[in-house]
Amino acid sequence: MQQVKAVVARSKDAPVELVTINVPDPGPGEAVVKIQTCGVCHTDLHYKQGGINDEFPFLLGHEAAGVVEAVGPDVTGVAPGDFVVLNWRAVCGECRACKRGDLQYCFNTHNATQRMTLEDGTELTPALGIGAFAEKTLVAVGQCTKVDPDARAAAVGLLGCGVMAGIGAAINTGALTRGRSAAVIGCGGVGVAAVAGAALAGASPVIAVDIDAKKLEKARELGATHVVDSSQEDPVEAIKRICAETYEGAEGADVVIEAVGRPETWKQAFYARDLAGVLVLVGVPTPDMTVPEIPLIDVFGRGGALKSSWYGDCLPSRDFPMLVDLYRQGRLDLDAFVTEEVGLDDVEASFERMHHGDVLRSVVVL
Ligand code: APR
Ligand code: ZN
Ligand code: ZN
Repeated sequence: MQQVKAVVARSKDAPVELVTINVPDPGPGEAVVKIQTCGVCHTDLHYKQGGINDEFPFLLGHEAAGVVEAVGPDVTGVAPGDFVVLNWRAVCGECRACKRGDLQYCFNTHNATQRMTLEDGTELTPALGIGAFAEKTLVAVGQCTKVDPDARAAAVGLLGCGVMAGIGAAINTGALTRGRSAAVIGCGGVGVAAVAGAALAGASPVIAVDIDAKKLEKARELGATHVVDSSQEDPVEAIKRICAETYEGAEGADVVIEAVGRPETWKQAFYARDLAGVLVLVGVPTPDMTVPEIPLIDVFGRGGALKSSWYGDCLPSRDFPMLVDLYRQGRLDLDAFVTEEVGLDDVEASFERMHHGDVLRSVVVL
């Protein structure tokens, strides 16, 4: 066991605290990872607000990169010294999804068996089974994905959650390719990553929609060919018009990605699709929201598919190293997502900035 500094949320809505925690030595199937960087994600804030569950105290942080320090007795696959991005989809290989070959839908992802604790022995709940606003954390070995060690940790660590969710919504769930059009509604960290993913897949046009002009600028930097300020014009009409300029007869985009998580924007995405188009919901709604009223004949008559995308339907072992390579080749600008690098004691202030929409990502650097 060793003691390290970490950011903990003790109770609903109280400010987070930097405290000392106990990290057990890794047991079978476990690894201790020395954290280098960890992005601040909305989900961490949702944990702190009690919006995920009430298993306080939480050890926050889950978009992390670091170096494996020690592994448990039976461990193969990763070794001390490996540079890894942590993931929250350590596939089990045994659930129904895994058995039928759909590992990206694994229902039973692995986490560490032992618990990290406060100094007094109180068990911590690590955010998404990771808990990486900490000098070191204990995870399941499958949560460590080895990537090119020459990559900048603050940038590639973001693949651990939000950026992967956005890119994956475009390339995995939406299956975008050359010759297809894409629109993304909501251009925060997740939406802008979806824009980058659509551009990477060769989609054209790539239309970014937001109500905030600053976000649209960023979306252009990351590959949007067109931007629509939906506080100024009707986004459905704009998407239809832009797609028809590129593809004669198009009545909307082939894939529309909703990255806000609200009924109004989901409805816009529904109607902004071309016939047989795909809607991908990657924004996370709150439990009180319902599907907006839409005539069933419109669902039938327009064909296509209404999908949701959980963690970008990613398979970390497949997607993280591939995306890090594209980053290293200069084809995916992960640096653009890092608005600021902050310290372990800046998490609370970073939540505040995130809440005001001032940053794409604040990244804690240890
Ligand atoms: N139309 C278009 N864009 C909107 C609208 C709207 N009606 N309302 C908000 N937006 C934009 C905001 O301006 C912002 O740019 O949506 C974006 C949301 O971005 P963030 O708050 O930064 O959230 P992000 O990290 O991108 O996550 C998006 O996915 O992970 C979930 O909880 C997260 O639901 C959230 C979503
Ligand atoms: Zn499984
Ligand atoms: Zn996250």
